[in-house]
Order: sequence, then structure tokens, then C-alpha cells
Amino acid sequence: MPRLVRKNEHIYLSICRKPKRADFSDLNFVHNCLPDRDLSDISLKTSYLGRTERSPLFINALTGGTGLALRINASLADVARLTGLPMAVGSQMVALERSKAEASFKVVRRVNPDGTIWANIGSYASPGMVQKAVRMIRADGVQVHLNVPQELFMTEGDSRFRGMIERIRQITAGINVPVIAKEVGFGIAREQARVLIKSGVEAIDVGGRGGTNFPAIESMRSGKRISGGLEKWGIPTVISLIEVVDAAEGRVDIFASGGTYEALDIAKALSLGACAAGMAGYPLYMLLKKGKKALINKIRTIERDLRLVMMMAGASSIAELQQTPLVITGFTAEWMQRRGIDPSIYAERSML
Ligand SMILES: Cc1cc2nc3c(=O)[nH]c(=O)nc-3n(C[C@H](O)[C@H](O)[C@H](O)COP(=O)(O)O)c2cc1C
Repeated sequence: MPRLVRKNEHIYLSICRKPKRADFSDLNFVHNCLPDRDLSDISLKTSYLGRTERSPLFINALTGGTGLALRINASLADVARLTGLPMAVGSQMVALERSKAEASFKVVRRVNPDGTIWANIGSYASPGMVQKAVRMIRADGVQVHLNVPQELFMTEGDSRFRGMIERIRQITAGINVPVIAKEVGFGIAREQARVLIKSGVEAIDVGGRGGTNFPAIESMRSGKRISGGLEKWGIPTVISLIEVVDAAEGRVDIFASGGTYEALDIAKALSLGACAAGMAGYPLYMLLKKGKKALINKIRTIERDLRLVMMMAGASSIAELQQTPLVITGFTAEWMQRRGIDPSIYAERSML
């Protein structure tokens, strides 16, 4: 089945190289030489979608459907259980088409019965399909992925997207768990964030450009170069985050993702207003190249380093990190100005 072959190709091609990091270099914390607290006072707790999580990290949507995907999902679910991180499964469309594929998703709930787990489906799905995907893994929420460029770059991809906004509206109206709208590496702009919020989503995962690059993966699959200079299409993660924060005005929870797997970058994303940061390509790479133990150690290292950054920035909680000064320079500052967002609102804030 072509969809199953593609799933495995995506896995192998995305781990060819170490995943890229998004560029957070325009964002600068201001060192605080008088934090006046102990490292043990620093909390990574975060609250979103009506729950409190012990860490602002989560494992983002990756896979399902094949035998390889089942083994990967079982391992990732075990990592999520041992580290207490929420986890999203990959698109469940394959299991809605073939019930045999359900096992590769159900394994996630079996391995991690009490964890926070999110279902995943495309915006082409009907509310009935989404409900089935949610029930399949007793999901605590569902990600609806938005991946138009990926489909366009895929030789066998879709080219019909009419009605997607109305379908998202029907999904949010007809589902009894929170709906997270999510890009897959091309970012979300302020205008579309407003449409998504109006459509009833409870969270937006920006899925910006800078990490996993689907045009590059699709080009490797087809053996054809991306034409038209389109290989860099998309909104960088930092800029998408700034745009979505601006659009949301506190009405929805915001997740940073797209090349976010180093502590300093994640701390900057949280400081901008994200309540959590998702990682997909990187945990897959670590799991398949270095093993489960190395991935768990890396997650613990990110969390430890996050605490160090918070200490040095003078914040004991994520809420405080969102009140510490963040100086935005360069291309990001210029973009903000052109879009009517004042970078000094971040630079001039303080907890005093
Ligand atoms: C092998 C692979 C498969 C993916 N499959 C899905 C999917 O089924 N559904 C989805 O919403 N996102 C999928 N993604 C996208 C990720 O969830 C994420 O949005 C994207 O990779 C950007 O994050 P990253 O830079 O941390 O990888 C996939 C990513 C990879 C690497």
C-alpha cells in the first residue's frame, strides 16, 4: 500500500542527518546576576488544555501504520511514560482505512495507560473519523494537522483543499476533547491563527520552518530537485510563534515546534508565550540512532538546562520567564516592525 511505504520512507529519510535546529539567534535573554533563589526553587510545570504537566516538553506526531511504526511508537510511548511527557501519535488516517493498522497506534495507550496522549488526523477528516481516531487510543486531545505544502511537494500528494476551514469548524463543534491545530514545518501566520481560533480550536502548534524539512524529504523520495526556489518556503518557527502569540491574545494555548530541541531555544520559545515545545524529528533520530536510553538522558538534560537558563534569567516559573526581558534583534525585529508588532514589548517587560 503506497501510504505505508511512504510512512517508512519518511522515517528513514528524516533521520539521514541530525535534525536541524530553528534559528533563535535574534532572541536574547538578559542575564540576571541577582536571582536570589535556589536551583531547587525552579519549576518547569506548565498548564494547558485544562491539565498541568510536569514539563514543557512533548513528543510530537511521528508515525503509525507499519510494523516499524509500531515498534517506534511502543518505544516512544515508553520514553513518554518514563519521562512523563505528553505524546502525539502520527496521522491515524491509515488505521481508519485499514483496521489492521490500529495496533500500531493502540500500542501507545497500552504502554502508557495514564499518560497524556493526543490523536492526529488531517483537516480532510470528518468529525466521525476524528471521534474514531480519539477513541482508538483514548486520546486526551486531537491534533488536526495542516500540511498543504507537504502535499504539494509530494508526487502522490493531494491538491484539493477546498472546505478545510469549514471542516475544522465541524470537528471542533463535534468532538468532546480539545482540538489542537498544527502545522508540520511551514508555520502559521497571524491571519490564519485568527481563523483557527474563530473555528474553535483550543490550541495552536506553530510547526514552523527550521527543523524537519518536508520539501527536502519529498525531494529525496522522488529523486527530483525542488524547482522554483521553493525549498525554503514557510514561516520560521520564531516568527510564527510571535505572530500566533499576537493573534491569540491569550485565548488559546500555544505550542512551539519546528526545530525546537535545545534548552536555550525552548526557553526563548516559552518566554515568547508558548506553554510547551514539541519535538518530532529529534526524538526519532535519537531513538533510532542512539537508542531509548540516550533519548531519555537527552530529555533529562534539556530539562536540567532549562532550569539553568531560568535561574540565570531570574525566573522561577514559566509564568515568570514570560515576564523577564527578551531583546529581539535583526531580521526577527524587522519582521515584527513591518507587521506592526512592537519588539520593545518583550525587551521592556519586568517582574518588578
Ligand atoms: C517521519 C516523520 C513523520 C511525521 N508524521 C506526521 C504525521 O503523521 N502527522 C503530523 O501531524 N505530523 C507529522 N510529522 C511532523 C512533526 O510532527 C512536526 O510537526 C515536524 O516534523 C516539525 O517538528 P520537528 O522539527 O521537531 O521535527 C512527521 C515528522 C516526521 C519527521
